[in-house]
Amino acid sequence: MHATPTSADDIRTAVRDRYGAIATGCAPACCGSGAPAPADIGRALGYSEAELASLPEGANLGLGCGNPQAVAALRPGETVLDLGAGGGIDCFLAAQRVGVTGKVIGVDMTPDMLARAREAARSREVKNVEFRLGEIEALPVADGTVDVILSNCVVNLSPDKESVFREALRVLKPGGRLAISDVVLLEALPPALERDLAALTGCVAGAATVGTLESMLHAAGFESVQVVVNAASQEFIREWLPGAERYVASAAITATRPVGEVSCCTSTSTSMTGVEAPSVAPVAAAPEKRSCCAPTCCEPSAAAS
Ligand SMILES: C[S@@+](CC[C@H](N)C(=O)[O-])C[C@H]1O[C@@H](n2cnc3c(N)ncnc32)[C@H](O)[C@@H]1O
Repeated sequence: MHATPTSADDIRTAVRDRYGAIATGCAPACCGSGAPAPADIGRALGYSEAELASLPEGANLGLGCGNPQAVAALRPGETVLDLGAGGGIDCFLAAQRVGVTGKVIGVDMTPDMLARAREAARSREVKNVEFRLGEIEALPVADGTVDVILSNCVVNLSPDKESVFREALRVLKPGGRLAISDVVLLEALPPALERDLAALTGCVAGAATVGTLESMLHAAGFESVQVVVNAASQEFIREWLPGAERYVASAAITATRPVGEVSCCTSTSTSMTGVEAPSVAPVAAAPEKRSCCAPTCCEPSAAAS
């Protein structure tokens, strides 16, 4: 059992190492003994046979913990962002739903995972999907340009979930939706499991409680926050790590960016990484009401002085 790193950078390095190895080697299903195949995992997570059959080779690595498409209600023409896209499973499914007038952006911090997803897009000539290298705590996406944010089993891996939600709010258009599948903490982990590196990078030890996630989402400026725990997820969580199903479960997390209200501290463009320039034009939000949290953000006199 390896101890969990404590600094945010070290955590991200450990997570990148694990998913880089999966991207370049094989999916967990073919590395472990008797682990289910990615398609079987997909079925257990609620993807239909038709959805799974439609995916490019290698897009489904069996790394999710739910089906965010099921709660996202995607519409033709929408712009969708997938946080921690992995091999691209949810990006490719979203691309079918939003159609040629829509666009899907997948962000992932693991270069080998990105290469895999890009190759899958190239192999099928999928034109309305783009994969960008970046961290979900500092999204390479312009302010107010996204209709729907998806994510599948990624936010738990972040050492800075507050920033993830602040960034999500920043890039969403007013009225934009968040539709996330993730692992939540039901009960405090035993100390040994809490400190276990494999449990951290394996989507168990980094999970936050439902209450913590709700508080973070509200603090970031979201409304209509809902976290719905999927009790049936115990089945597959037991297969990830026997015993962990007592402490964590999968949940569907939904929230909306308010229309006409912007938290000024989250609506900045300073977190653009510049790794890859976004190809979508920023949409100017016209807030009716602003919540202020720094002297220069909302007071015209303070800003001018
Ligand atoms: C458990 S996998 C899920 C992949 C994909 N969403 C799926 O359902 O197959 C986690 C993915 O998130 C990426 N990831 C983890 N933490 C990240 C972060 N802080 N910023 C960007 N990507 C991250 C990893 O590189 C990996 O590809």
